[in-house]
Order: sequence, then structure tokens, then C-alpha cells
Amino acid sequence: MMDNLIRFVLVTMLSLAFLTGCQKENANEILIGQFGSLTGNEATFGISTDKGIQLAIEEINKVGGIKGKILKVITLDDQGKAEEAAQVVTRLITQNKVVALLGEVASSRSLAAAPIAQQNQIPMITPSSTNPKVTEIGDYIFRVCFIDPFQGTVMAKFAIENLAAKKIAVLRDVKSDYSVGLANFFTETLVKMGGEIVADVSYQGGDVDFKAQLTEIKGKNPDAIFVPGYYTEVGLIARQARQLDITVPLLGGDGWDSSKLSEIGQDSINGSYFSNHYTNESQEPMVQDFINKFKAKFNETPDGLAAMGYDAAKVLIAAMQNAANLTPKSIRDEIAKTKDFQMVTGKISLDEQRNAVKSAVVVKVDGPNFKYVTTVNP
Ligand code: PHE
Repeated sequence: MMDNLIRFVLVTMLSLAFLTGCQKENANEILIGQFGSLTGNEATFGISTDKGIQLAIEEINKVGGIKGKILKVITLDDQGKAEEAAQVVTRLITQNKVVALLGEVASSRSLAAAPIAQQNQIPMITPSSTNPKVTEIGDYIFRVCFIDPFQGTVMAKFAIENLAAKKIAVLRDVKSDYSVGLANFFTETLVKMGGEIVADVSYQGGDVDFKAQLTEIKGKNPDAIFVPGYYTEVGLIARQARQLDITVPLLGGDGWDSSKLSEIGQDSINGSYFSNHYTNESQEPMVQDFINKFKAKFNETPDGLAAMGYDAAKVLIAAMQNAANLTPKSIRDEIAKTKDFQMVTGKISLDEQRNAVKSAVVVKVDGPNFKYVTTVNP
């Protein structure tokens, strides 16, 4: 008798503790999860993306939400680590019971998280992971950006046609799926177009001293150096290259897009070029409207990550509005139908492989500004 009572009290206490420990499910809310690098070497990626997403969520909630419910996003920091990305996504799915996921920026972290989303059949949209392998994980994984075979071609063509740079050195981050993939795709096109890779050397994300690699590169006398990395290392590489009297331009991809690039690279990064998803110089009314709304809310000009985050959230919101119901399966099916969806970063149509086919821009670094140079269509 007493035993039973004690057991009853214990079980009740445990259940209560468990329930309050979890985010309470609220019938008036739709929960979606976001995971990103809010801290660490790529913190601006996660922070900017989050701001873009917040803006999109705020807009839909202002007009009454979706199917009479308010949209709520739970954002977890993965510190820029792949293992952590897998953990926080597991938590979002099993504890918070989100119906969809937004993230990550970096391909290696999307690759760590996507199998978990796929296994649990929770749709995931990465705003900006460009490595082809990400969406190959399965039919619940989408992206609203172009992929690196295209981005690599854009920069190889640009080097040869716009800069008359044919002898190129490549400096890649071997710890990053993005960097390795983009270096390979760039090389493929460059060689096809008659260019030559005069050096192919590597570093690992987190490194701070690149003098040995740059000395080797200098010995090969290239016309330009292709550095498909993220902004922290790229900024340091630019400075150390100039210290070694290497004066040729550096070339890169979307991973350069950060307000920190010129803070770290200072004058050394000026005059270098990279490909990106968006330019804030675009006169498209939709882009200017987005920039104005973003500035009003956050008091800063949005970078490409913010624009991609906003667009990814908009695609998800539209899918939820069109979906028969708010189950992950129903939402997934609607995301897959996304077609001619005019957004800030261009017109989004998802193909059979769940990738967006879109144009890229090339910009030139000029202090904190990235000056628009050209647009390349797929
Ligand atoms: N495309 C990069 C990747 O796949 C991420 C990135 C996108 C970084 C856009 C900056 C801007 O890893």
C-alpha cells in the first residue's frame, strides 16, 4: 500500500519534471527548428542567417500566421562544429518536435545533420550549403541556393575571361567539404578552358599560419590564387600573402561573404574577387524592399547569408500555407513543388534533385563593400 503510494508520487514528480523540461507543445503554435553557427570562426554566417529568418517569421505572424497558428522558430547554436550540428538537430526533432528545419550554412554541418532529418522524415531546407552531396542525402533535404559545380565554373570563367588569369594556384581547406568540392569543380573547368593549376596546396579550418603554403605558391608565380574557404582564414591568408609580397588577386566563393572579411584582411583583401548569391546593389524592388526592412529592424545592411535565410524561410512558409495539413510529410511535398518563386536572391525553382537553379554574381572587395562586377547565369 505504502509502496504503491510512494511509487505514484515518484512517477508523478518525474513526469512533471519531464514535461516542464521539454518545450511545451502549444496548439496555437507551429514550431520550426533552426541550427547554425552563432559562435565560433563562422559566427557571422549563423547570426546573419538567423536575422533573415526572424524577419520572414515576423512578417507572416503580423498577418495572422499560418492556418490560424503563429509560427515559432527555435534556434540552436552548433558553434560551427559538425558533431554539434548533429546533436542540436536531434534535439530539435526529438525534444522540441519541430515540423521542419532551416540550416545549416556550411556544407559539412548540413551533411552531418541531414541524415538525421532524413531518418526522422522532417523536411530540412539549407539556405546556403552549396556542396552537391547535401541534397543527395534524401528526399527530405532541400536547398534554395545554387550548387558548387556551377559556382566553380563561374569563377574559373571569370579568371580566364575577365582577368586573363590562366596560371592559378589553389589553396583549399581540406577539413571542409565545401572547400574541397569547390576547389575540384573550379580546377575542372579551368583546365577545360585551357588554364593551368600551378600549385594545389591545403590548410585546415582553424589554422592561423599560412606562410609555408604561400611561400610554395609564390615560387610558382601564379596569375591569381583561388581560395575557396571561409572568411576568417581567407582574411588571414590575404594579409600573409601581402606580407610575402604576393600581389596577385585572390579569388574565392560565397564563403567569403562576411562583414568580418575586411576587418580581418584589412587592405590586403581589397581588389580580390568572389562569387556570391546576392548583391545589395541590385535595383530590383524586391531586393531594395528587403534591404530597407532589414535595416529598419537590425540597423545594418543585410549580407548574402541574411538574404538566403530570408528566402529559405519564405519558401518554407509558402509550402506550409499550401500544404493540406501541417505534418512534415505534407510540408515536404509542397516544398518539392516550389516553382518560379520570385525572391530576394532570384527566382527559385527546385529541380528533381531538390536544388535551386539560379544565377550568381561576382563582386570585388573594396573595404567593407563588395562592389558588383557581373552576373553569371546557369
Ligand atoms: N556555400 C557555403 C558552404 O556550402 C556556405 C556559405 C554560403 C558561406 C553563403 C557564406 C555564404 O559551405
